Amino acid sequence: MCGIVGYIGKKPIVPLLLNGLQTLEYRGYDSAGIAWLGPENDLCMFKKEGKLSNLRSHVDALHFHNDDAVEYRGIAHTRWATHGSPTDENAHPHTSADGNIVLIHNGIIENYTELRDELKAKGYSFKSSTDTETIVLLLEDILKTETNFLKALQRLTSRLVGAYALGIMDKRQMGKLYGVRNFAPLVLGVGDGEMFLASDSVAIVEHTNEVVFLKDGQIVELTATGYHIEDFAGKQVITDSETIAASQMILDKKGFRHFMLKEIYDQPDVIRRLLSEHLKGDTDPVSILDKPALALFKNPKRIVIVGCGSSLNAGLVGKYFMEAVARIDVNVESAGEYRYRDTLVDEDTIIIAISQSGETADTLTAIRQCKEKGAKVVTVTNRVDSTMARESDAVVNVHAGLEVSVCATKSFVAQVVVLYLLGLQVAEDRGTLKANELENLKHQLKQLPTQIETMLANTDTVHTVAKKYGSKENMLFIGRSMNYPTAMEGALKLKEVSYIHAEGYSASELKHGPIAMLDQDMPIVAVLTPGPLYEKMISSCQEAKARDAQVIAIHAGPVQQEAADTFDDIITVPTTHEWLSPVVAVVPMQFLAYYIAEHLGKDVDQPRNLAKSVTVE
Ligand code: G6P
Repeated sequence: MCGIVGYIGKKPIVPLLLNGLQTLEYRGYDSAGIAWLGPENDLCMFKKEGKLSNLRSHVDALHFHNDDAVEYRGIAHTRWATHGSPTDENAHPHTSADGNIVLIHNGIIENYTELRDELKAKGYSFKSSTDTETIVLLLEDILKTETNFLKALQRLTSRLVGAYALGIMDKRQMGKLYGVRNFAPLVLGVGDGEMFLASDSVAIVEHTNEVVFLKDGQIVELTATGYHIEDFAGKQVITDSETIAASQMILDKKGFRHFMLKEIYDQPDVIRRLLSEHLKGDTDPVSILDKPALALFKNPKRIVIVGCGSSLNAGLVGKYFMEAVARIDVNVESAGEYRYRDTLVDEDTIIIAISQSGETADTLTAIRQCKEKGAKVVTVTNRVDSTMARESDAVVNVHAGLEVSVCATKSFVAQVVVLYLLGLQVAEDRGTLKANELENLKHQLKQLPTQIETMLANTDTVHTVAKKYGSKENMLFIGRSMNYPTAMEGALKLKEVSYIHAEGYSASELKHGPIAMLDQDMPIVAVLTPGPLYEKMISSCQEAKARDAQVIAIHAGPVQQEAADTFDDIITVPTTHEWLSPVVAVVPMQFLAYYIAEHLGKDVDQPRNLAKSVTVE
């Protein structure tokens, strides 16, 4: 979502801040801004709507260079609009009326209308329609009666309701930069005679891998040589820095036209990596969970999987699989709904949180609430340094590598494979599967990378299908059993990158409403893989065909002659175990979404309105 970068030190400040923003760019945003203060304390501030390149070319044209060996401080921001459209005025930073305070903000201030009215009554006027401007003006107001800046920030936080991470400079606080964290990520980087602030360590890891992850309810004061942390009550917090992996964020498309395409092609290697780490031979035990984590699954009263978006769809595949192999009752819940329910979570509950980013606000809040009720939390994530990972009882790394395209592809597949491994390990431990069934599933899991590679080697059919149906305005995706979530994932991919209206349904629900929509303009994508519900899927396709819908089959293996007439187009996928089929079936759906979006000239990697990491409700 929004991105924060801050710096205090002697390096060339403008490229440092802009390059920091660039590493966060892939997450999606609609405008960007930068501000810095030099030795003369003159504020330089620029804000531009649209891509970061707009801001960069504007700033580049100024030919600004730091004075050598002189300390500067600055903050920069990419905005994903919540209050007020994405314009130059609404972009951050925002400044106080007296021009002393400069502030950037990630998150949402829920009581901003009330605060705005209060400030207006005091004579303050607003230049933007953002909730953020209320923060900076409120701080200005507080500073009229409070000379201690940290105390003023504490008073500020006592008035704000909502989620926020703030980066703040004040001209009068020479040589200082401030950060505030409350339910939105913020990390500080410790350098040699320089300090950094960021909403994600990827923005600063090029410069330092010594970091402090701020906790909710904390304020940091940075100087070039150190940091001082207090909580919102003014109590000093002593926190040592920790060292994170120094690997730089390399945004390399490896010759592919888009990151989404590259990431689809990464999938066999992602699965191979997971399997080589956690599943050696067909008869070897699975090792995705360590002993203490595995012990949690011995006899839980309930397991609840929580997640959002693609992670939620992966969770649904996981539910079906775990119930089938480990014979445990598993519920799957949309985290945004779950957090507001009076749930029955207790100390005998295991929560499996699934999140690529590990920062999704709804999922994070859901796990915090469940922990408070005594549940144990296992987080399945691509970011082991994320807030969710740090707050969980156990963490499983999906090892998908950096996923740059906003639309999740390889992280979804990695999550599903992790859930397979988790299910198998728990089944092994509980003795719920026969040895030959376990061996067969393990063996077939190992075939998945090569099977996906055969699909990646020839995408002509899916390309043709994409061209044929790319101008449709609606599309329906159907599947049964474990491919019901796959159908939802296929529809989600299409919506996200092509903006074509698409819905994913269990084929069993077709007759309960969606069938009313069917005609020649509503193509159906149907997932047909071997299993007890194959014939039912054929019937659903025939019913759709009888209503003039064109039927695109994603079909495992060759199609029998009698079924072939039902389909207008057939995309063949390799045959695997019914329970593992979502991993192969989702691949052509990812391609379908990609090719259609590309054909329609959409911004594939950064679709409109979407963000990679949704850190606000
Ligand atoms: C956003 C992204 C989706 C993602 C969802 C959940 O909406 O655009 O691709 O599936 O967030 O994100 P998470 O990081 O929790 O998996």
